[in-house]
Amino acid sequence: MPSLFELLRKEDPAERERSGLHDTFEKVLSRRLARRSLLKGAASGLPLLVIGGAAAAERQPVSRGIATPAQRQLQFGALPLVSPEAEAAGKLEDYVRVPRTYTSQVLLRWGDPLTSKAPAFDPLAQTPAAQAQQVGYNCDFLAFFPFQSPFSPINGLLTINHEYTNEEIMFPAYDPAAPTPDQVNIAIAAHGVSVVHLQDPFYRGGQWSYLRNSKYNRRITGETEMDITGPAAGEAWMKTSYDPTGTRVRGTFNNCGGGKTPWGTLLTAEENFDQYFANRNSLPDGPLKQLYARFGVPAGASGRKWELYHPRFDIAQEPNEANRFGWIVEIDPFDPTSKPKKRTALGRTKHEAAVTTTSSDGRAVVYSGDDARFEYVYKFVSAGKVDKNNREANFGLLDSGTLYVAVFNDDGTGEWLPIVFGQAPLTPLNGYTSQGDVLIKTRFAADALGATPMDRPEDIEVSPSTKKVYLALTNNTARTAAQVDAPNPRANNRYGHIIEITEANNDNGALTFTWEIFILCGDPADAAAGTFFAGYDPSGVSPVANPDNLLFDATGNLWIATDGQPGTLQGNDGVFAVPAEGSERGYVRQFLSAVRGSEVASLEFNTFNNALFVAIQHPGEGGTWASPTSLWPDGKVPPRPSVVVATRLYGGGTTFPVGT
Ligand code: FEO
Ligand code: CA
Ligand code: CA
Ligand code: CA
Repeated sequence: MPSLFELLRKEDPAERERSGLHDTFEKVLSRRLARRSLLKGAASGLPLLVIGGAAAAERQPVSRGIATPAQRQLQFGALPLVSPEAEAAGKLEDYVRVPRTYTSQVLLRWGDPLTSKAPAFDPLAQTPAAQAQQVGYNCDFLAFFPFQSPFSPINGLLTINHEYTNEEIMFPAYDPAAPTPDQVNIAIAAHGVSVVHLQDPFYRGGQWSYLRNSKYNRRITGETEMDITGPAAGEAWMKTSYDPTGTRVRGTFNNCGGGKTPWGTLLTAEENFDQYFANRNSLPDGPLKQLYARFGVPAGASGRKWELYHPRFDIAQEPNEANRFGWIVEIDPFDPTSKPKKRTALGRTKHEAAVTTTSSDGRAVVYSGDDARFEYVYKFVSAGKVDKNNREANFGLLDSGTLYVAVFNDDGTGEWLPIVFGQAPLTPLNGYTSQGDVLIKTRFAADALGATPMDRPEDIEVSPSTKKVYLALTNNTARTAAQVDAPNPRANNRYGHIIEITEANNDNGALTFTWEIFILCGDPADAAAGTFFAGYDPSGVSPVANPDNLLFDATGNLWIATDGQPGTLQGNDGVFAVPAEGSERGYVRQFLSAVRGSEVASLEFNTFNNALFVAIQHPGEGGTWASPTSLWPDGKVPPRPSVVVATRLYGGGTTFPVGT
């Protein structure tokens, strides 16, 4: 169900009136409950994907790690890491597998046309203009926004991050040493974000679909103009020849994870932005060169060589352009004319995520990981409070507040250290000139404060039922035995782990916390792996490694998408689910297995938790157009990164149970 806040968030004045935005809380609540009953009746034929059959009070303690079906908090049989068919064939599956009583459907593929200007996908006739109106490449973070005006929890907008491009797979003839201008511009247009109007299968033969030519469909690309807001806007290091004011920028790149704000906007996180820029060594030795080195900006040519055709990617010609990336971008998906905003108050790192909740006193809290070895975990707490009655009043909320970085103590306690200019050591004596300057150099500031270096912080998620915070640490094979500490307890951490954080007083705005290891990933049958599943008997647990994206369902189970299993567990990457509370806490089970060469980059549920959207990113990575390692999903070259939707079959049948 939508939250009460979502119900209250109306844009259209007539709908506001109809929905009683001006009514008392009690009246709105009673209407909401009536609506819930109505929807419950209408949707009674739709089995829930995740909600278990047993009420919490009826659950019995589980013995020997094996629950009976009636006791299970999650209602599916775990998949094996590799199917018997794939084992027999000697190669991994090139299709999506889900448990027997579920099905999956390809919903949106790279190149699917979104607008009236978009041609049908033709991989042999790609153009930058066509790509800018089609679904982009390498789908990552997914967010579902049900329509608010008129209110509809069923239909809504799906936003899709497009993290990066695999030119060697996208184009039939690609020379990485000499890409053509069209190839470069197609790749730039294939980055960014898609906003897509989805239609529920309710009246459409059980199939999810998107509404082509919807006024909401939108592509944001590497060329879309956006504003730079917050403390770093206008800073000297943010100014370029295109933008002498340091307040506007073209494009967003390497959009990996993200989040949804309580006021219904998308936060999309710029991660490995360094790879698009070239020629760091053209700079004189000094602080800017050091900062770029810390981010890994190439000393010479970039991998994609966009600098051949676009001077802004050449640091020798445009020394500050790279400072305008590595931020969190806020986008209003409901307004296709809205200008995206880079919210600099949230800091500049290789952001994996931007998971938003509220503090006990109503301020916005945004958690974010910096996904690189030995990097840090951050949270931002807004100065102002979330206005639940006026959506637009929150549009500037993320421009002022305090950014914190985490210290994890070995005794299971932790603290959030403020990254504030003027507070030691972030003073002019150490080269800092303003809060904007501190934020551009967020990594250096966090170093100076003594933050705890982690094993690649990926996604973060807040439990809707307990407010506990879950942090995926995907791996760190560079950690040595001498560098092991309590929060990163493995040397050569190949499998990754998940940490559970409990904020003081269960307040996500708190400045101290306690933490514990929730899961040490790996194959529980491999004693050398040293796995741990929150104390659950490992004998019935699925092997899992390299946790990346996280998601909670409405009943408090944590869903995990992986990135890297083929190199560690020798199965395709997949989707796993684990209860975070109750008698099955730690009981990890595999729900989905993805296709050859791909990672599962993101997960999202629809409003009713009976459909799971899954981003299958970079199928066939490692191959090329000429030598493909995947032909998914079309059975031919090129493989296409795609969003699939998994739903439960009705009684084991073959069609989605619409209205039955
Ligand atoms: Fe783009 Fe951190 O995964
Ligand atoms: Ca990721
Ligand atoms: Ca997430
Ligand atoms: Ca990853």
